[in-house]
Amino acid sequence: MKLIGKYLDGFISQQQIDKIKPKVIRAHAALLNGTGAGADYLGWVNLPKNYDKTEFARIKQLARKIQTDSDILIVIGVGGSYLGARAVIEALKTNLYNDLPKNTPNVYFAGNSLSSVDLSNLLKLCEGKDVSLNVVSKSGTTLEPAVAFRVLKQMMEQKYGVSQAAKRIYVTTDSKKGALKAISDKNGYETLVVPNNIGGRYSVLTAVGLLPIAVADVNISQLMAGAAKARTDMKLPDNPASRYAVYRNLLYNQGYITEILVNFEPSLAQFGQWFGQLFAESEGKDGKGLLPNDAIFTTDLHSIGQYLQDGKCKLFETVVRVKNSPVEILVPAVDDNLDGLNFLDNQPVAFLNDSARRGALRAHNEGGVPNIVLELPALDEFNLGYLIYFFEFACAISGYLLGVNPFDQPGVEAYKHNMYQLIHTPGHK
Ligand code: PA5
Repeated sequence: MKLIGKYLDGFISQQQIDKIKPKVIRAHAALLNGTGAGADYLGWVNLPKNYDKTEFARIKQLARKIQTDSDILIVIGVGGSYLGARAVIEALKTNLYNDLPKNTPNVYFAGNSLSSVDLSNLLKLCEGKDVSLNVVSKSGTTLEPAVAFRVLKQMMEQKYGVSQAAKRIYVTTDSKKGALKAISDKNGYETLVVPNNIGGRYSVLTAVGLLPIAVADVNISQLMAGAAKARTDMKLPDNPASRYAVYRNLLYNQGYITEILVNFEPSLAQFGQWFGQLFAESEGKDGKGLLPNDAIFTTDLHSIGQYLQDGKCKLFETVVRVKNSPVEILVPAVDDNLDGLNFLDNQPVAFLNDSARRGALRAHNEGGVPNIVLELPALDEFNLGYLIYFFEFACAISGYLLGVNPFDQPGVEAYKHNMYQLIHTPGHK
């Protein structure tokens, strides 16, 4: 992956970059030595090298079982407990994964909202199909997945009987504590562990993400290999993730308080959501933080493009460029040429997409929007694993540069408290 900063010329100076260097060196040392805020949650830093190889092999084996006995896997989880898995599956198997012909189960996600419509649609999808459930909750107490699990467990037990249903329920949770752990032990469900030193939004490369990702036939060894390469590349204080964190920080300090992650593949829309959660929950606290957002171009050039070009808010774009498209579709010529597009005869659609990227980048840049470009040679397991680790590392450095703890989320508790009161939860007055 290449980090390209040349579209920041005129927005950020070398002098500013040099000035912040000592702070970056301190942030980097704090992260690698575990001396910064939230140091109990740094398990993800060395995970690509130190991951539990026995658990990893078991994940592959369980994925094969699910592939053999299920048409559908439902992943029940919210926030960091589902966004990574969904992002990786869609990025590598496309956003149409469930609709395309294949030999692997469809993967659906539940328990990430309190929508009755969503749940009832899922129940309908399960009719006449063989189903497995993967319930993912680190705390084991989050309301959304807990409610969805009750409903879907009931469906499973009616469909298969209690003991057979138990063989199709996989629980990913803390190794010792939480209600889900207790439920799992009581019912004899297969259990996978969320390491206690890894927070939800940094957990995609643990069992949290890896089981559903492997069920969708993604090569998880290659995903880890890409992350391992990124880990090696981030060892020195001057590395791509730290440079990206510096760019963000300098732009933020000049009033660019919104960052748009721009992708050119609809299959990366969920990756944008994962990115958004990672940065918003990590940095948006103590009255500070960039607001992360995401867009798919060219789709969104026809919706928010006008605003991006010359609206009021000071924002910058982080553009993910995938250099090589895995497929080639050529524009065909037509006899009547009524749309006048025959000049595109035999041109790859990917060439048009790339031209739109270059055109938008230039236009936005000239319109006052700083751009950071992340260039990937291809969108495959290795490069995606690299990109995931890159963003995690950059997020941690960004948080430290900003002076916040990037590993907690105290603000999320406020709505929960009110909701628990409103639903008369015992102990919440
Ligand atoms: O990143 C986080 O920590 C959160 O988004 C959690 O993943 C989310 O709140 C779900 O928590 P849990 O896995 O405990 O159900």
